[in-house]
Amino acid sequence: MPQPFVLAFTKNVSLSEESSDSLVLKSPEGTFNLKQLSPGLLAAIKILAADGGTEEYLSQQVLQADSFSSLPKLYYYIEQFINLGIICHTVCADGLPLATLVPISKFEKLQFFDAKPDKKYVLSRFAYCHQGKDGMVLESPLCGAQIILTDWRSGAIATCITKPQTANELSNLIPGISLETAVMFFSLLNSAAMLSEVEEDGKVVEKENDTLTQWEFHDLLFHSRSRGGRHNNPVGKSFRFVNEIKPLPVVKPKVSNDIIELYKPDIEKLKEEDYPFTRILEERKSIRVQGNEPITDKQLGEFLYRTARVRSIFPKDQKECSNRPYPNGGACYEIELYIIINSCENIPDGIYHYCPLDHQLCRISERTTYVKALLKSAELATNPPCNPQILIILASRLPRVSWNYESMAYALTLKHVGVLYQTMYLVATAMNLAPCAVGGGNSSLFAAATGCDYYAESSVGEFMLGSRYS
Ligand SMILES: Cc1cc2nc3c(=O)[nH]c(=O)nc-3n(C[C@H](O)[C@H](O)[C@H](O)COP(=O)(O)O)c2cc1C
Repeated sequence: MPQPFVLAFTKNVSLSEESSDSLVLKSPEGTFNLKQLSPGLLAAIKILAADGGTEEYLSQQVLQADSFSSLPKLYYYIEQFINLGIICHTVCADGLPLATLVPISKFEKLQFFDAKPDKKYVLSRFAYCHQGKDGMVLESPLCGAQIILTDWRSGAIATCITKPQTANELSNLIPGISLETAVMFFSLLNSAAMLSEVEEDGKVVEKENDTLTQWEFHDLLFHSRSRGGRHNNPVGKSFRFVNEIKPLPVVKPKVSNDIIELYKPDIEKLKEEDYPFTRILEERKSIRVQGNEPITDKQLGEFLYRTARVRSIFPKDQKECSNRPYPNGGACYEIELYIIINSCENIPDGIYHYCPLDHQLCRISERTTYVKALLKSAELATNPPCNPQILIILASRLPRVSWNYESMAYALTLKHVGVLYQTMYLVATAMNLAPCAVGGGNSSLFAAATGCDYYAESSVGEFMLGSRYS
């Protein structure tokens, strides 16, 4: 990095004085005893823990108190601190901070790249701004750092570089930004992988990477933030709402009094009489052509009982949990099933909620325009188009999961969709029914059809079921 960046410790570092020549540095990376420090080094490290300073300023402090021979030690310490990911770099203009690069991943060491004054750069399509704890933050799933924008001019720079610019062009566009500051700002963004070089012929270097080109912005952001590695947010069971919000009940309260009792199969008998497991596994396939005779209420009852009923309820992780035929992270069981009856013997058409505890269908509505639109959207997702006898919509009561899991709640719910799909496929195969998963659905239509709040319970999967064509 060029000299003029202001260096300071990240906020999660604390320093205490052990004796006149030693300091204890506490950081998320561990506690370090810095011993036998010369007065100059002691002063320089204390500056890093306070307002910070440029390398030049820190060197001056060392030279004032010590001999020239202490300087290599200062550079050694600075390098070690940077490698530990506990140093922020700030660009200033007119003595005011414009933007600060803060490392947020101990697994992804920052590589510093100086920007070239005469080169054109453009903002990466993965960079995004949002309101963070310390103000406006520029982030990108391509790196393990964030840039805190502390001045209106940094927001203006971020806007201007959505089109290719050289540092010179940028400094002419924004008042108070010198060429040197523009180069430093570019270097800061470049080091955080938020800039792409633009070649002479106008080609954006980032676009020439075929692998990256095939990642959409939201997919890469979701991937990087729902797993550990490129950030320092907690991942996993953190119970962040335990004292603030009551957990949702394990079984969703009944949505209506208009109830249909479903048939329950004899599981013990099925254990004896079912097809062997390997036959079911090997014969499982997606079937998009359903039979002429509709599926029966008895078959639907058996299917739901074998795939999704509640087998037991018990307390766990400070909330109610349950056991069902398919596995589920933390036994949260946040997936609710909504059954659209398009054609089923003995069950009137319409949309129903499945109560997995009492094994009942609770009627929500008849075949409304929204219900028809949901059926049509599933039909259009299959080739050949299949107007299914039954469309099962999987909806996630996400707060069941996000109440105790942090960073990964939505990723977990999508995994649960996959788990339930396979259970449904296997049970349908064992019952000689026609199953087919559907990859895309419309969550706004689902909300309109069921009256569910988009944020409290949103559709995350669809599954077609019907009798088999013979
Ligand atoms: C998550 C998921 C989404 C799917 N989405 C669709 C879909 O939208 N339309 C469709 O016709 N088939 C869909 N399928 C079925 C796949 O096309 C099918 O599983 C794959 O071609 C393999 O064939 P098989 O299931 O017969 O073994 C989906 C399957 C899964 C697991």
